[in-house]
Amino acid sequence: MRFKVTVVGSGNVGATAAQRLAEKGYADVVLVDIVEGVPQGKALDLAEAGPIEGYDGRVTGSNGYEQTAGSDIVVITAGLARKPGMSRDDLLMKNCEIVKGVTEQVVRHSPQCILVIVSNPLDAMAQVALRTSRFPRERVIGMAGVLDSARFRAFVAMELKVSVENVQALVMGGHGDTMVPLPRFTVVAGVPITELMSPETIERLVKRTREGGAEIVSYLKTGSAYYAPSSAVVEMVDAILMDRHKILPCAAYLQGEYGIKDLFVGVPVKLGGRGIEQILELNLTPDERAMLRKSADAVAELVGVMKI
Ligand SMILES: NC(=O)c1ccc[n+]([C@@H]2O[C@H](COP(=O)([O-])OP(=O)(O)OC[C@H]3O[C@@H](n4cnc5c(N)ncnc54)[C@H](O)[C@@H]3O)[C@@H](O)[C@H]2O)c1
Repeated sequence: MRFKVTVVGSGNVGATAAQRLAEKGYADVVLVDIVEGVPQGKALDLAEAGPIEGYDGRVTGSNGYEQTAGSDIVVITAGLARKPGMSRDDLLMKNCEIVKGVTEQVVRHSPQCILVIVSNPLDAMAQVALRTSRFPRERVIGMAGVLDSARFRAFVAMELKVSVENVQALVMGGHGDTMVPLPRFTVVAGVPITELMSPETIERLVKRTREGGAEIVSYLKTGSAYYAPSSAVVEMVDAILMDRHKILPCAAYLQGEYGIKDLFVGVPVKLGGRGIEQILELNLTPDERAMLRKSADAVAELVGVMKI
């Protein structure tokens, strides 16, 4: 039996994630969207790539949720994407409504699934999905840290002209301008970048990471990033389906960890078959802790506005 993964929202991130998942070969993929014909057309196109790419998994598309029944994982990318000059927070109320409606339908058909939330503003939307689904916190996970860390890794590798495979990085906090890239935990072949670069260079790369999403938006003008975001989604899905016990930075519902309560914030977690298996509590310096607190406060403010 293959796994079953549903991706809600068949736009740039959703369709690209579906493609990457289909190419893994171990899951049937269902694409859902409200726009008639789009999920069906993209799914058929992906199914027709199967003979060339060598995957047998079924890829189907639908405007309803019957076909999604019994999914192991449901990825929610439904919503509006940022336009130039628009912050992730501008998307708040519209996407709140969308994510609530989608979650209700998903849960009805896949009550045992694990939810991976992608829609922005990420941490607030994860909270909407948690409240709506009434799932345990282990089964509602936000995607942001894997993407933000990948951006940081890419910038470090470009700067030092080393393989991206040599670079590990950690970005914590909310998925917004207050995110917390942590140079102390960012290493090249095991060596912290604080020993390899000047503080000015590190600060420049940290800033570029924080503004990584906006940098892409400013180039694309009519959409936001989707290649790296979909890769990040698939790394999380893979860690869960393959029960890898992989440590990845994800938005998790904190209940006292890092002194933060009842809020989704990006932290390192262990991902496996049951979803979040452990939240890792790092020993942060007072400065790092203060930055994380500030980032959590920004998330709390959004959640307060939504009154969910
Ligand atoms: N967490 C992250 O790191 C991250 C990264 C990139 C994008 N995002 C967010 O992901 C979301 C999707 O981005 P995108 O680039 O794919 O946007 P997109 O506009 O290309 O796709 C969004 C899709 O959602 C669909 N949709 C809208 N309402 C729906 C509903 N009620 N049910 C089902 N489908 C619905 C739209 O028709 C559209 O096809 C945005 O909110 C974006 O900001 C988050």
